[in-house]
Amino acid sequence: MKKPTRVLTGITTSGTPHLGNYVGAIRPAVAASRDPGVESFYFLADYHALIKVSDPARVQRSTLEIAAAWLACGLDPDQVWFYRQSDIPEIPELTWLLTCVAGKGLLNRAHAYKAATDRNRELGEDEDAGISAGLFMYPVLMAADILLFDADKVPVGRDQVQHIEMARDFAQRFNHLYPSARFTLPEAAIEEHVATLPGLDGRKMSKSYDNVIPLFAPTAQLRKLVYSIVTDSREPGEPKDAEGSNVFQLYQAFASADETAAMRAAFADGIGWGDAKARLFERIDAEVAPLRERYEALMAHPGRIEEQLRDGASRLRARHATARLQALRHAVGLRDLSTSPVETSVAVAKSSVPLFKQYRESDGCFHFKLVDGDRVLLQSAGFESPKEAGRRIATLRQEGFAAGDAALQLGEGVDESEVREALAALARADAEKARKAAAGGA
Ligand code: TRP
Repeated sequence: MKKPTRVLTGITTSGTPHLGNYVGAIRPAVAASRDPGVESFYFLADYHALIKVSDPARVQRSTLEIAAAWLACGLDPDQVWFYRQSDIPEIPELTWLLTCVAGKGLLNRAHAYKAATDRNRELGEDEDAGISAGLFMYPVLMAADILLFDADKVPVGRDQVQHIEMARDFAQRFNHLYPSARFTLPEAAIEEHVATLPGLDGRKMSKSYDNVIPLFAPTAQLRKLVYSIVTDSREPGEPKDAEGSNVFQLYQAFASADETAAMRAAFADGIGWGDAKARLFERIDAEVAPLRERYEALMAHPGRIEEQLRDGASRLRARHATARLQALRHAVGLRDLSTSPVETSVAVAKSSVPLFKQYRESDGCFHFKLVDGDRVLLQSAGFESPKEAGRRIATLRQEGFAAGDAALQLGEGVDESEVREALAALARADAEKARKAAAGGA
């Protein structure tokens, strides 16, 4: 059977779920989680919440509300991995391992951090004033979330794409230095066709604009909020432009195609704003009311949610996280000391650094091989010129070895991973040389 695609999503637990979260994230994600070809990971990113929120009660409250909201909307913890980030100690541990390969310069360019330093500069403050190292490290923690489980796809909004690219970058560096890690390089799945909902004031619905409709507002409050949506001053009977109206856009996010067409016609016919809002309220409430009922039942028993989350985390650790981290610890050299004498003697025995050897065959062609002591790891085909052979070597060293290159053949009994390991050893030796040169020059 084909390995299912792993799709992973984190939700920062810093607020109360609103209709924009529902339409933009929860509803499509719950639908996607039912796809049998997918292994889904949904988690509450409470470590990420600490970067923005320093009110402990709010972190706790938000974690509970978001967990209950996802469950109420149909996420099934027996079908997907549903867990809380802070229940998986392997995540912060991996964060540190990744921190040690993450380029600081790359983190300097992360959007959220850059926006904060830009703001400070505009205000004439020290550029790092009031910025925590947590904000700076945000992308590394997020990379650990993703890489620990070798996620293939990460559904994100446009604002998060850069973070996925950074996760790929860290993974590549890590794989290069420690070839046995073999992190999967994640891809961003950008949600283009998912609607962004307008909020009460017409701007994108967002907590930071204070224009949200809470997903599980009680019916009376929902009605009141819907009636407070800002509209223009057109009178009943005057035709109204559906596409430009937030009332219409909200309606569309909840209605079927037929209902939407009927509403568009009503706008052209000059439906009054009061009537349009009444219909909008009815439509939202029809979808949300059954979810709200489930939500309230769940919220009445927080202990059950707590148990479900812990259960998810403990199964996930047993199934993936603990062994994975153990292997990573070994890969970087955090090892059982009682095993080291054996390995050291092996290392001493083959103290050689792998080597590229170039030579000319009797056929007049230029070849090269990658050797480690007297073991041939890789053997090239013949090239017309020594320059061509040299170029191929440079590419190999920069980009690594990809199986399936017709010009390169693995040595007798050699595994790809040995070639990667050798290239990494070469890279380390180069880095060491550069470091010594720099230290000597200083
Ligand atoms: N940064 C994401 C957000 O604010 C939340 C998040 C944390 C996340 N870790 C993640 C999303 C890993 C996807 C994958 O929306």
